[in-house]
Amino acid sequence: MATPENTLAFDGGWEYAPAPESTDHVEIDKRYGLFIGGDFVKPEKGRYFDTINPATEERLARIAEADAADVDRAVKAARKAFGPWSRMKAAERGKYVYRIARIIQERAREFAAIESLDGGKPIRESRDVDVPLAAAHFFYYAGWSDKLEYAFPGRKVKPLGVAGQVIPWNFPLLMAAWKLAPALACGNTVVLKPAETTPLTALKLAEVIADAGLPDGVVNIVTGAGETGAAVVEHPRVDKIAFTGSTAVGRVIQKALAGTRKKYTLELGGKAANVIFADAAIDQAVEGIVNGIFFNQGHVCCAGSRLFVQEAVADEVVEKLKDRMETLIVGDPLDKNTDIGAINSAAQLEKIESYLEIGRSEGGEMFQSSCTVPDTGYWCRPTIFTGVSQSNRVVQEEIFGPVLAIQTFRSYSEAIAKANNTPYGLSGGVWTDKGAKIFKMTQNVRAGVVWANTFNKFDPTSPFGGYKESGVGREGGLHGLDAYLSLEA
Ligand code: NAI
Ligand code: MG
Repeated sequence: MATPENTLAFDGGWEYAPAPESTDHVEIDKRYGLFIGGDFVKPEKGRYFDTINPATEERLARIAEADAADVDRAVKAARKAFGPWSRMKAAERGKYVYRIARIIQERAREFAAIESLDGGKPIRESRDVDVPLAAAHFFYYAGWSDKLEYAFPGRKVKPLGVAGQVIPWNFPLLMAAWKLAPALACGNTVVLKPAETTPLTALKLAEVIADAGLPDGVVNIVTGAGETGAAVVEHPRVDKIAFTGSTAVGRVIQKALAGTRKKYTLELGGKAANVIFADAAIDQAVEGIVNGIFFNQGHVCCAGSRLFVQEAVADEVVEKLKDRMETLIVGDPLDKNTDIGAINSAAQLEKIESYLEIGRSEGGEMFQSSCTVPDTGYWCRPTIFTGVSQSNRVVQEEIFGPVLAIQTFRSYSEAIAKANNTPYGLSGGVWTDKGAKIFKMTQNVRAGVVWANTFNKFDPTSPFGGYKESGVGREGGLHGLDAYLSLEA
């Protein structure tokens, strides 16, 4: 299948050299400090933690752990930078954001390799999706910098101040780009906290930001785990919080922010329905199912983790899916032929494996591809469950791994009812030959995005975000500007 640029589809047809991607061009320091006020500085308590390569369990670097005092330093640096940055001519500010985009492009190979080393995702995905899309976000929002009045006609637009941003480990560089690009374009300064298992590309981005000549303190990067994130969220001089991660932590953050004047956006979990009608192009739909659930090891908030197949084609779809699963290569993330890389952490693997157990004990029938996986590192073979029902935990809860729950439906209305029977509302998919069915699905499935005859496609121009327990607010596109501005009449 020919894969257009930026699709996340596994292309069965392209030939790649079997040799692993060289990492000669990659430089990772032994130890990283905190990026505050334009410099890498030591954490006050002198504490460091390891980030490892989940495919080998080897340590890649020691990473500074920021405590509340370090976060305070970062917020102070961001406050100090805010005045001049927000008053700078908007077109000038835009040039800095453009420069970030250009340097990411120039260093794309390095970014891709580091993303795969630190987080376990296949190099093909880092190279073709994460890194180009991260650059695209900076390009897109750079363009808005001097056009904000046109985005909101008749309103007075003002930046909010200091944005605190906490991001997850599944798309480390891309999530940093989603957060930083609109914040900077709108004239805010930032304190960003990457996830503890995947801090390296954000720290490399700190180098890019310095090379792009951004004034000191406009972007500050503090590393650490949940406590560091909480210190960012709770800091009284932060004006806006943007969070992407689990619904559980999203709830904690929302509680912490209740009654404060801080503006916030929360991008949380999902359990998307991918709905296949009998009139769909079945082979394409099978590719879409594979892409929907096995892309990035299923560590995707908008993953198509619930499959609904119309009864008439259910057997055919499941058979074809099993055959296709057998062809997926699980292993070395740096090998260009790899389809499914390493699970991000030991904790995440444990969580996924506990769901495999839960699914079986609930009476589901489990099928896994018969591939072998390496002895060291964290791996999960692509997995599907059939014979499950709406009340099963593997159908209701976010597993965040390469595990698909399959159910069938007869009528259109049954498909809608089942698709909406979830606490989440982030994304969905529909596969059919009929435009009318597509329109009906997109109107009736309560989800921030519904893909039609495709899945997991992203573009900086389109807003992304959830209903229900999938979060509040939108990122991306024009909507994404709103989250970083105060709009006055
Ligand atoms: P998490 O929600 O704990 O981590 C996301 C980010 O939040 C990380 O940077 C973390 O350090 C930070 N964080 C943790 N506790 C915090 C707190 N109290 N205040 C502020 N920041 C805090 O997710 P975790 O534990 O890494 O993964 C657990 C599950 O969450 C996954 O199995 C998956 O189901 C879900 N998840 C969903 C994501 C999504 O994009 N929807 C992303 C990551 C995880
Ligand atoms: Mg790591």
